[in-house]
Amino acid sequence: MIVGVLKETAEHERRVALTPEVATQIVKQELEVWVEANAGSSSNFPNGEYETAGAQIAANRDEIISKSNILLTIHPPSEAELTKLKKNSILICLLWARQHPKLVDTLKKLGISALGMDFIPRISRAQNMDVLSSMSSIAGYKSALIAANELDKYLPMMMTAAGTIPPSKSLVLGAGVAGLQAIATLKRLGSVVEAFDIRPEVKEQVESLGAKFVEVPLEEAVTQTEGGYAKELDKSSQDRQREVIHEHAKKSDIVITTALIPGRPAPLLITKEMVADMSPGSVIVDIASENGGNCELTEHGKTVEKHGVKIVGPNNLPSQLSLHASKLYSKNMYALLNLLIKDGKPNFDFEDEILLNTTVTHQGEIISPMLKE
Ligand code: NAI
Repeated sequence: MIVGVLKETAEHERRVALTPEVATQIVKQELEVWVEANAGSSSNFPNGEYETAGAQIAANRDEIISKSNILLTIHPPSEAELTKLKKNSILICLLWARQHPKLVDTLKKLGISALGMDFIPRISRAQNMDVLSSMSSIAGYKSALIAANELDKYLPMMMTAAGTIPPSKSLVLGAGVAGLQAIATLKRLGSVVEAFDIRPEVKEQVESLGAKFVEVPLEEAVTQTEGGYAKELDKSSQDRQREVIHEHAKKSDIVITTALIPGRPAPLLITKEMVADMSPGSVIVDIASENGGNCELTEHGKTVEKHGVKIVGPNNLPSQLSLHASKLYSKNMYALLNLLIKDGKPNFDFEDEILLNTTVTHQGEIISPMLKE
């Protein structure tokens, strides 16, 4: 069986789906690995390291696509490229199937077995495959560094001969995987941190990182789904939440926003009036920018200055740490491959909750209940 790896072609994408370290492990299982030339160059994995790992390097992208039984990428290849894949071949990548119905239709019609890394269920057994957590953690870390870089102040308290400088104040909105990592990084840099999330159990996690949890009394008793994700709040709770956030944002030097609701646009947490009330020189880093943003004035992919406040709408933060992002992605994917491949052959065991949810299309059918819903 041949496992193919393509060079990513999306703008701003520097990651690669398979690192030489994981290529070695796949080769040991007596699978052939073919890597497109320079696929790992942008994340500092040169062709030579893949060759040492036992992989073959091919300059011709189409050759890899047409000979692969399993194709590994970060983003799906183009539609024209998908038609060159063998029938019954396997594609593993971030599919974002809910947002791309046309792609799902193509994969179904072509008889490709497509596994979406973004559909790995958030259960304990799947933690080593959980690419969303790996990438969110990087995004959270990087957002804190961007904020520190954009701010014209120290983050820690400084006692100098010229006087004492108080520590900066940061507010993190949304304390999921990305938010918690942003809090931890801001704390390490010496900032005083406050955080807010609508899921009540997050309070303890925020406090364990040494940050203060901002309490917002909400009317809704239940703010999360059975799967542990946040629910959209009703209008009066949203207004109540914004009122409280407004008071805290006014006093903050840094605001990092990470709030997301699966399948919905990112909730609006920072209005333009709130930005206008913040001190000039303060910084907002809106990680939710790709999903519409948590701040009304965010412009995705840009850093803008409004009312003296810098607002960063970062694009593909994991790609900015491409070496470690590729390592984690690759290891997450290898854990999934190990579940799928039995005795050198793919075994689509849909009794297994992870394979069932992750397999978007197989033999011309939609499989994942997450997509069927
Ligand atoms: P996410 O990226 O979907 O959302 C980020 C955060 O925004 C969440 O904490 C959410 O509660 C919060 N949020 C949404 N609306 C908000 C609002 N209006 N105001 C403030 N905050 C708001 O979440 P993520 O990081 O992907 O985690 C989702 C869930 O999955 C969590 O319960 C997490 O603990 C769980 N999880 C479980 C894992 C496992 O068991 N393997 C691994 C990773 C996460």
